[in-house]
Amino acid sequence: MMRAGRFSRVAALLAAVAMPQAAQADDLAPTGRWTAYEGGNADLPPMGWNSWNAFYQDVDEEKVLASAEVIVASGLAQAGYRSINIDDGWWLKRDTADGRMVIRADKFPSAALADGTTSFRPLTDRLHAMGLKAGIYSDIGRNSCGQTFGHGNPNNPQGTVAEREVGLYGHIDQDIALYFADWGFDYIKVDGCGIRGMGADNPNVQNGTYRALDPLIDFNSIARTDVPAVKALFSEVGDALLRHNPDGDFTYSLCIWGSADVRSWFGSYGNLSRTSEDIAPYWGRLLHNFDSAARRALYAQPGNWNDPDMLFVGTGDFDAEHMTEARSHMALWSMLSAPLIIGFDLRQANEEQLALLGHQGLVAINQDAAGNQAVLAYDTDEVQTLVKLLADGTKAVALFNRTAQPKEVTLTAEQLKLVADAPIALRNLWTDGQSSFTGETAFTLAPHETLVFIADGRRELEEGFYLSEMPGRIHVAHDGVDVPQFDPQIHRAITPWQNTRSIGERPRYTGWGGARADSAPYGQGLSIAGQAFATGIGVLSGSRLELRSEGFARFSAVVGIDDSATEAGGPVRFELYGDGTLLAQSDWLEAGMAPAPLAADLGGARLVELVVRRSEGGDRAVPVTWGEAALTRQPAQASGS
Ligand code: GAL
Repeated sequence: MMRAGRFSRVAALLAAVAMPQAAQADDLAPTGRWTAYEGGNADLPPMGWNSWNAFYQDVDEEKVLASAEVIVASGLAQAGYRSINIDDGWWLKRDTADGRMVIRADKFPSAALADGTTSFRPLTDRLHAMGLKAGIYSDIGRNSCGQTFGHGNPNNPQGTVAEREVGLYGHIDQDIALYFADWGFDYIKVDGCGIRGMGADNPNVQNGTYRALDPLIDFNSIARTDVPAVKALFSEVGDALLRHNPDGDFTYSLCIWGSADVRSWFGSYGNLSRTSEDIAPYWGRLLHNFDSAARRALYAQPGNWNDPDMLFVGTGDFDAEHMTEARSHMALWSMLSAPLIIGFDLRQANEEQLALLGHQGLVAINQDAAGNQAVLAYDTDEVQTLVKLLADGTKAVALFNRTAQPKEVTLTAEQLKLVADAPIALRNLWTDGQSSFTGETAFTLAPHETLVFIADGRRELEEGFYLSEMPGRIHVAHDGVDVPQFDPQIHRAITPWQNTRSIGERPRYTGWGGARADSAPYGQGLSIAGQAFATGIGVLSGSRLELRSEGFARFSAVVGIDDSATEAGGPVRFELYGDGTLLAQSDWLEAGMAPAPLAADLGGARLVELVVRRSEGGDRAVPVTWGEAALTRQPAQASGS
């Protein structure tokens, strides 16, 4: 597979070299429609519980039900935590006679049916009767993560080599039908270990325990990863989910840890996608996982969410002795519109921990209907300020102290895109205290503390919203990244499962140069010909963004090649489409040219596409800026602009 994959990549590369314009023109042609994945049931970030962080592979029915009972009794279900998800460890084997999966009935007694077969239906019925939903776990390869990496051995599948092939590979339709139509699950997490680590060099392949599957994913090398093959497998699962869930009530969670350039395509394939390797219950790992999602606001939208992994509230650095850290974890995941999946044995939870998980204000931020992932308004390795526009027009703001020292933090009206000469009301979500400031205000953050406020003031742009305030309305169809590169801006934490035996945490999640809100693609401030923009969209040329524009009458921006461009790659042309029809376009713009206004009335168009074209022969991507890009309510005539 790997060999075939590499050849197909080479062929694709040759084709691209031969006809760059044709390839580009196809990618950038307006479609007039929203092309993100709309299957499944994930208009809001999923909420629930998962067995992994609490029990790892030592999962059983009693433990699952015990946490489910606490979820109902404590009011967490009422707060929104409804999906009870079983992770790795549930499977005994695949019955090779008919290919049907067999459950480890010694751990899940209700699964043992009178006829000798096994079924999760009694358990999912029970969860459904409790008003909950049920989630299952599988792997896109032939084997599970426990099998691939040798963890949790006592609970790994048993039997012959073929019986131990419990993953979806070669059984996608059969397994999805079983899990959803037959067993009644509502949610699936699809892991990727079986296509990552089951090569001929795996010791358990060498000793004959498992069959080799040439890896499609090489985590350390995107060039050695067969992205089209990985996409094809996940797309097959998506199709099977649609087929076997006629009511569309399912959630599809991809778990390939930010590999295979998944950030650039998951939004067209599934409901959520892990942005990094596993979280662990310590601070450095929280930083790592947070960073893997924090600059990706434009890649998340209702239906498709960045997943920095499950909550670890309750354990280690986030346990009852570390409530400052636990609160930060919960607050940050809420701001990121991340799935809120509890990973704690809730029988051990005290009142304060349950109250944090169920915190009404934070859950409301996470579950806000606008679906805007927070955008970084201030970004350093020490303190970050995140701002999330809510559906009612107010803003959630989080001030995050990453360090182990207290920090003085100033919050400005400009960071909130609110005017500096009118009062801004703040409600502190931890204390419920109200305050007000004009212009700017200062706070002292304790080590690792996150303060969260709801801010309400007079908007800078009274008649509409800047695009960078509404990442939930944007789907990045093409971000202009031709050669995916690893993102170097992610906190490099010790991976606890390796400790310091390895060469350390090296960059390996692609996404560098991706589209950004209020930032140039490589992290600089937005700027065209020396003019800085506090707000806008930064992206590479050769890109196409889809923007839901219902409720707005006009688009406006000032555009040009961003000053962060380090080499001549222009000229570029900015094009604006409404429901597939060209509304306006810029001239061909060179680096260093003054920002050019680009605006048009939308004439009722519900979908706007923002295209930046490279010139004939201009095959290099350059950073470009949609400065002050905004949707406003009045057409030009009415507003007189
Ligand atoms: C990992 C995954 C974890 C957990 C584990 C099970 O690949 O990231 O969240 O599911 O496998 O073995």
